[in-house]
Amino acid sequence: MFTKIVTFILSLNLIFISGSFGCQLKKYQETDSFVCVCNKEYCDSLPVEPYSSPKSLTIFTSDKSYYRLTKSFVPESDLKLNQSSDIKVTLNVYDRFQSIIGFGGAFTDASGININRLTSDALKDRLIADYFGKDGAEYNIGRVPIGGADFSDRIYSYDDDVEDDFELKHFALAADDYDYKINYIKKAQQLNSNIKLLATPWAPPKWLKTSNKSEGLGILKGEPGSIYWKTYANYLIKFLESYKENSIEFWGLTPQNEPLTGLMPYYSFNTMGFSSYMMRDFIKKDLGPALKAAGYGLDKLELLLYDHNTDEVYSFARGVLSDKDAASYVSGVAYHWYAGPYKYVYDNLNKVHDAFPQYFLLSTEACEGWIRSDPDAGVTLGNWTRAETYASDVIEGLNRWSTGWVDWNLALNMEGGPNWVKNYVDAPIIVSDDGSEYYKQPMYYSLAHFSKFLKPGSQRIHHRIDKGRMDGVKMTTFVTPTNDLVIVVVNTNKESVQITFNGAGPSKFTLEFGPNSIKTIIKPL
Ligand SMILES: *[C@@H]1O[C@H](CO)[C@@H](O)[C@H](O)[C@H]1NC(C)=O
Ligand SMILES: *[C@@H]1O[C@H](CO)[C@@H](O)[C@H](O)[C@H]1NC(C)=O
Ligand SMILES: *[C@@H]1O[C@H](CO)[C@@H](O)[C@H](O)[C@H]1NC(C)=O
Repeated sequence: MFTKIVTFILSLNLIFISGSFGCQLKKYQETDSFVCVCNKEYCDSLPVEPYSSPKSLTIFTSDKSYYRLTKSFVPESDLKLNQSSDIKVTLNVYDRFQSIIGFGGAFTDASGININRLTSDALKDRLIADYFGKDGAEYNIGRVPIGGADFSDRIYSYDDDVEDDFELKHFALAADDYDYKINYIKKAQQLNSNIKLLATPWAPPKWLKTSNKSEGLGILKGEPGSIYWKTYANYLIKFLESYKENSIEFWGLTPQNEPLTGLMPYYSFNTMGFSSYMMRDFIKKDLGPALKAAGYGLDKLELLLYDHNTDEVYSFARGVLSDKDAASYVSGVAYHWYAGPYKYVYDNLNKVHDAFPQYFLLSTEACEGWIRSDPDAGVTLGNWTRAETYASDVIEGLNRWSTGWVDWNLALNMEGGPNWVKNYVDAPIIVSDDGSEYYKQPMYYSLAHFSKFLKPGSQRIHHRIDKGRMDGVKMTTFVTPTNDLVIVVVNTNKESVQITFNGAGPSKFTLEFGPNSIKTIIKPL
């Protein structure tokens, strides 16, 4: 099917459509929505700035049945009020909360392996532009694994060959860094010179771990302050320096990906265990001072603790931040969604903020299709539900002090890998088996509803639900640095809902939110 250009009228108070619905769509019988296909002949891009226009609302819509970040305008004079709308909301642009740091994804080995498989260089560039370009999702964060992760096709660290190499004389980046990560980070940086890169290790060289194995149960050998702990701190600094030699500088570091997994028996992939007290001591006695001495103090590099699921985020953060010395080296708390949507533990984010308000919260990993026992584990092409779970999780976090959201793999194969332990999952971009095309999933557009419009520095503002129940409807409200009001709403219901907004300017107005849709609304203030 070829590009469709459509003009349309929405049921309520619309208006005219400016952009085109550029998706080259492909539907799969087993799923409820579609993907947008990118190949040598064609790839849809997203609208470029300016997004707002004076005296009108700009609305971007994606939904299950038809639209993908489709742009429309409503002149203010055409705004209507429906007194019997389902939901009434009052915004207060003066009541302000946290500022956005950003949105992004991860430069995993798996991502690089899949992008490398694309048969044309133009398509590789387009994929990076889909994420980081002005005509793409405008991501500004890139997470980078330090050495191998499960989403690698082999286990490796940067000092595997010589045991007890405490001086790290044999430290060297791997071919994987050059072939899968560095080249694509550089391409992304050409599109956005302000990308914040966040480095995270999965496992250290085996000889630093009690188990002498990268995967599974095991902690750092020795005690805080011992040669093992100091060597590991130096190892992380060597990584930062080696990337710097390749002209890549990091914005932030977490000491360990998912530290609690390394305390679990039979955990299958690369990890190392830290309890909150171990991480406290590592930061306080070894990593913090070493970073500072190497010129990576908090003025140069953000240090984020935890980097694991929301269910334990508060207790872990408290364990580290209650110690003044450890806390002095830390600037933020990183969390992952995996416990979130299933255990309703988002309020732990509020608890972290309330107890430690000067430390920012950032969602640093999430993906769909990760529950191994689910029949739909891994990739499902065109799955709209996953666009909704992404948008819902972003909103739940933003409404509880989170400063952004970082997705997991930028690109996976049709199976959801490669992953050396076959821990296959879904991703917003999937590369076809023959590498001639890639598929932009509903999740890709879902994230763009936030990443393109909530520019760094945008501040959350208060909204109050005056009437109606937000069943299946989630909303977050921001003001950007250029003084645009941005409202993002996901409606997961099969029916449309009408929402009346008050406080967004002189007049009240009502907008309709279609069945299974995501909308970003922009209004200059
Ligand atoms: C779509 O994703 C949801 C959430 O992961 C899952 O429950 C559902 O089974 C998936 N649908 C298909 C057809 O795979
Ligand atoms: C006003 O909103 C209600 C609730 O959604 C809806 O039933 C009604 O049709 C709307 N009226 C108009 C004129 O759109
Ligand atoms: C660690 O494992 C390697 C094999 O991976 C082995 O050669 C070495 O002897 C082991 N070291 C210790 C201290 O057990």
